[in-house]
Amino acid sequence: MRALFVVLKPLCFLALLGYCPSATIRPKEGWQVYSSAQDADGRCICTVVAPEQNLCSRDAKSRQLRQLLEKIQNMSQSIEVLNLRTQRDFQYVMKMESQMKGLRSKFRQIESNRRTLLTKNFQELKGKMNELQPLIPVLEQYKTDATLISQFKEEIKNLSLVLTAIQEEIGAYDYEELQQRVLGLEGRLRNCMNKLTCGKLMKITGPITVKTSGTRFGAWMTDPQASPKNNKVWYMDSYTNNKIVREYKSVSDFVSGVESRTYNLPFHWAGTNHVVYNGSLYYNKYQSNIIVRYSFESGRVMTQRALESAGFHNVYPYTWGGFSDIDLMADELGLWAVYATNQNAGNIVISQLDPLTIQVLNSWNTEYSKRNAGESFMICGTLYITNSHLTGAKVYYSYSTKTSTYEYMDIPIHNQYFHMSMLDYNARDRTLYGWNNGHQVLFNVTLFHIIKTDDES
Ligand SMILES: *[C@@H]1O[C@H](CO)[C@@H](O)[C@H](O)[C@H]1NC(C)=O
Ligand SMILES: *[C@@H]1O[C@H](CO)[C@@H](O)[C@H](O)[C@H]1NC(C)=O
Ligand SMILES: *[C@@H]1O[C@H](CO)[C@@H](O)[C@H](O)[C@H]1NC(C)=O
Ligand SMILES: *[C@@H]1O[C@H](CO)[C@@H](O)[C@H](O)[C@H]1NC(C)=O
Repeated sequence: MRALFVVLKPLCFLALLGYCPSATIRPKEGWQVYSSAQDADGRCICTVVAPEQNLCSRDAKSRQLRQLLEKIQNMSQSIEVLNLRTQRDFQYVMKMESQMKGLRSKFRQIESNRRTLLTKNFQELKGKMNELQPLIPVLEQYKTDATLISQFKEEIKNLSLVLTAIQEEIGAYDYEELQQRVLGLEGRLRNCMNKLTCGKLMKITGPITVKTSGTRFGAWMTDPQASPKNNKVWYMDSYTNNKIVREYKSVSDFVSGVESRTYNLPFHWAGTNHVVYNGSLYYNKYQSNIIVRYSFESGRVMTQRALESAGFHNVYPYTWGGFSDIDLMADELGLWAVYATNQNAGNIVISQLDPLTIQVLNSWNTEYSKRNAGESFMICGTLYITNSHLTGAKVYYSYSTKTSTYEYMDIPIHNQYFHMSMLDYNARDRTLYGWNNGHQVLFNVTLFHIIKTDDES
C-alpha cells in the first residue's frame, strides 16, 4: 500500500512518502484520509492512503495523483490559511498574502506585457488550469455535493476555453475578471477540502493546559464561525448563579488575563454547555429548558425558545450533574442541542437548530442514557459520547445523524485533572476545548475518512 502524507499548512503542507508492497492486494475501499488538528508547528496533518491498484500498478497514475495532491495542497495553502487563529499562525497569513500579491503581480505583468510575451505566459496559465483536470475524478467521488463539483468542472472547462481563446485573440479579455475566477475556483476547492478532512474520530491526544483558573466547573470557547483575524476567547466560570461572560481578544490575552470586555447577561445560565456560534452566545437559561441567543455585538438577547420536552435542572444531566441537562454545540454542519426527554426514556436526543430562530430543524433519538454520559461533542454530524467525567473516561458511543446509526467505540481520553465538566469540538481549530477541574485544556483529534473510488480508468 502506498501512503501519501499530506500535511495541511496551516492547514496544508504536503509530503509524499510512498512505498509499494510486493503483493498486490486490491482493497475495496477508496482513499483513506486521516487528519489531525495540528502538528508541532500548528499545522493540520492529513495522511492520505491511496488505493493500491491505482498507484503501485501504474506509474502514470501515480504521478497524476501526486500532482493532484500537490494541487490540493497549493490551493488549500492559499485558502485554509484564512482559518488561522493563533499568533504563530499569523506568519502563515503574511506568507499567503505575499503569495497572493505574487499572483496578482503576475497577472498585472501579463496584462502590461500583453503585446509582447504573451504566448509563453498564457501557456503557463493554461498549464495551470490543465493541472486542475486530474482533480475532477477525485472530486466526483464526493457524491454528496454533486452540484458543487459539476460547477467546478464546468468552471475549469470554461477557464481552459478562455485561456485557449486568449492565446488566439490577445487583448480581448479582462484579466481582472480572469483572476477573480481563479480565486473563485479556489473558494470552491476549499469546500471540497473541508469534506476531505471531515471524518470519523480515531484518536484524541493531549491535553495541553492553556490556563489554570476559575472553579472546578466552567466553560471557555472561541467562535468557529469567526473571521480569521478574530481569535476572541469567551470564558464562563461556574455552572450556576452566574451571568458574567468574560471576553479576551486572543488566546494569549486569555493566558495572561488581559480582559477586553465583560458582558452581564440578563439571565443566569445553567450548566457549562454553552456555545458561541457566529457572534452569538447560546445558553440554557437557569431552571428552564429555554435556550437563549445573546448577541455580543448588540449586547442583547435576540431570541429565546423552549426546547420542547427537554429535561432540565438536573433531571437529565451528564454524570457530574451541575444542571448540564442541555448541551449546545456546533460543528461543520451547524448548531446542535443534545439533551434527553421522558418520551425517549431519558436517552439522548440530538436536535439540529436554526441558528437564528433556535427552532428545531430535525431530531434524532439515541439509545444512550443521558445520565450515563460524561460529556458529548459533535464532529461532522456525528455525536461522540464519553462514558464518564472521571479518570479513565473514554469515548464510548457515537451516533451518526447522517445514517441514523450508532456504534460503540473505545477511544481513550486523558483526563489529566480527574474531573471534566466541559468538552466541545471547535470545527475551525479542529480541537476539543475542555474544562478539566479548573484547568482550561485543549485536545487534538485525529479524523479518518474514506473517499469511495468506483472505477479505475
Ligand atoms: C497537538 O499535537 C502536537 C504534536 O503532534 C502538539 O505539539 C500540540 O501541542 C498538540 N496540541 C494540542 C492542542 O494538544
Ligand atoms: C505548487 O506550488 C509549488 C511551490 O509553491 C510549485 O513548485 C508547484 O509547481 C505547484 N504545483 C502545482 C500542481 O501547481
Ligand atoms: C461556463 O460558460 C457557460 C457558457 O459561456 C456559462 O453558461 C456558464 O455559466 C459558465 N459556467 C461557469 C461555472 O462559469
Ligand atoms: C452568520 O451571521 C451573519 C450575519 O451576522 C449571517 O449573514 C450568516 O448567514 C450567519 N452564518 C451562519 C452560518 O449562520
